[in-house]
Amino acid sequence: MLLTEWRLALLALVLRAPLLARLAVVAGRVVGLYGVAQQRALNAANALAAEALAQAQTVVAHAAVRSVLDEYDGRVREYMRVIQCTLVSETALRFTRLAIDSLATWLMLAAGLHAVLHHRLTLGALTAFYTYSDVFARGCTSAQEVVSTLCTMRPACARYFELLDRSPAMAWGVGATPDRCEGALEVRNVSFAYAGRREGALHGVSFRVPAGTSLAIVGPSGAGKSSLLKLLLRLYDPDEGQVLLDGVDLRCLELGWMRSRFGYVPQQPLLFDATIAENVCFGEPGTVDEESVAAACAAAFVARLPDGVRTRVGEGGKHLSGGQRQRIAIARALVRRPRVLLWDEATSSLDGESERAVQATMQAALRDGHAGWRCSAVVVAHRLSSVLCADMVLVLREGRVEEFGSPSELSHAGGWFEQNFFGASRDHQGATGQEV
Ligand SMILES: Nc1ncnc2c1ncn2[C@@H]1O[C@H](COP(=O)(O)OP(=O)(O)OP(=O)(O)O)[C@@H](O)[C@H]1O
Ligand SMILES: [Mg+2]
Repeated sequence: MLLTEWRLALLALVLRAPLLARLAVVAGRVVGLYGVAQQRALNAANALAAEALAQAQTVVAHAAVRSVLDEYDGRVREYMRVIQCTLVSETALRFTRLAIDSLATWLMLAAGLHAVLHHRLTLGALTAFYTYSDVFARGCTSAQEVVSTLCTMRPACARYFELLDRSPAMAWGVGATPDRCEGALEVRNVSFAYAGRREGALHGVSFRVPAGTSLAIVGPSGAGKSSLLKLLLRLYDPDEGQVLLDGVDLRCLELGWMRSRFGYVPQQPLLFDATIAENVCFGEPGTVDEESVAAACAAAFVARLPDGVRTRVGEGGKHLSGGQRQRIAIARALVRRPRVLLWDEATSSLDGESERAVQATMQAALRDGHAGWRCSAVVVAHRLSSVLCADMVLVLREGRVEEFGSPSELSHAGGWFEQNFFGASRDHQGATGQEV
């Protein structure tokens, strides 16, 4: 193009290149911003749909189908609005590019014809130049599209790299892996607040659980019992103070080694959409035989299921009752023979028969030992029977230790335990004819 007619070539470059380059950057930014907005709007709509489907029974039971559908409709409309804005701005940018292109072509042709009329250029040379400049224009368009795409991807990639660059608060693979673990726990002056919460969940909590003994934690709702258990498992680190296993700060122990010494039963156990056996052996497939799985889950209930331990439990364990889910979660914790059992008892779910079965399994683990295995236990207890099994009781109120002693001591100490837990549970069990 330059060799054919350099003046026209310069004109073509000056007219096209800077404007198209600027347009490419603007287009990339605009489309990039809309791309992020699109992703957000789509995520919001999908999250609502997933949540509503997962909790379909709650939605139906609260006659909330209409309001959920309206909310979903609003989110989908928002997504459509962002898509419309994206299309409008993309179309406007495309027209601007075509206008720049056409204007440059017409100006070039006018200058070329002027040169032909004044015999500075032949018609053949102008035709050749026009062909070259058309190829050049297509190249510019492709380059502009590439720059646009790069600018569009930049915000999404930035978020992706930001996530990749984040280093986990707790590192795996570093720290001590002692040969032995006795299972003695100590909590030393621990204070803890959840991120974004001004009021702390725990304040200056201290206590010890010697190896092989059990501690029941009781207290009103929101007192910090579950939070304390999560700190013992190092799901969070305390803001102040220390949690020690066999005298070693949990932060000095290798995370995988440490967690494999614990068995954890959460307050709301969730199961995976797999068989009972797979759920019990979760994380260690094939290490436990089916008989011990059935025994750990309490054989009677598993035997009544159509496929025994091979019964699929459905998403989140929805094909089982709350009590059955709990028993499988307990089995999952016990079958690994942990050195420390952390059990966040659910406030309900277990009937009398299941409760006795679970207590028997716990007793086997805690007091009698089983095939040479015995563990310490910290149980967040809501039932008197669980508290009476424990060696010591800790009363937690508003994140602070209020009472600490053996069940028999605290049941006559005149404090919160006697008045609000022991007395109330005894009266309730007396009224329902259960044994205390
Ligand atoms: N993930 C979280 N993020 C922020 N705050 C939380 C979180 N989990 C619990 N909390 C707050 O920490 C406090 C203690 O909660 P925790 O779940 O430990 O109570 P709890 O004693 O186990 O109660 P319950 O007997 O009802 O299970 C509460 O005020 C609660 O709102
Ligand atoms: Mg709790």
